Amino acid sequence: MNKFNSTLILALGVFVSSAIVQAQAQTPASPAKGDPAAGRQKAVAICSGCHGIPGTKTAFPEVYSVPKIGNQNEAYIVAALRGYRSGERYNSTMKALASSLTEKEILDIAAYYAQSGAQSGALGK
Ligand code: HEC
Repeated sequence: MNKFNSTLILALGVFVSSAIVQAQAQTPASPAKGDPAAGRQKAVAICSGCHGIPGTKTAFPEVYSVPKIGNQNEAYIVAALRGYRSGERYNSTMKALASSLTEKEILDIAAYYAQSGAQSGALGK
């Protein structure tokens, strides 16, 4: 390896590590808070079909009503989704859905639904 190459590699290394430091600086210290705007997009796309229509019933595995989650407590929604994902709380539909969400998506969606006035993912809000 000649001197030019090793200088180039060194310069690249410095560039990459400063980019990593910058990315870390932009990440909030406490990632515990969700982003309601990002959550809304997911909620409308995934959840509103069931939770957005008052009185919706599902027929699987038996017929029962879908709970209203708009205006629900944020920590409660996070706990419910983690519970479905881990199997601590069992419902086959919600297990499949919660398992497809990342931890960030769970926080975002919970932040959205917890907003005052959030319809259950209805398109209007
Ligand atoms: C196919 C219909 C359907 C979809 C889509 C759906 N859910 Fe559910 N959800 C249900 C049903 C049915 C229950 C009740 C399950 C039970 O009895 O535990 C439920 C329960 C919940 C609960 C617990 C509510 C409570 O009062 O304890 C939360 C939170 C929840 N869903 C969030 C979501 C989120 C967030 C999404 C979108 C990612 C979503 N659901 C998508 C049908 C659905």
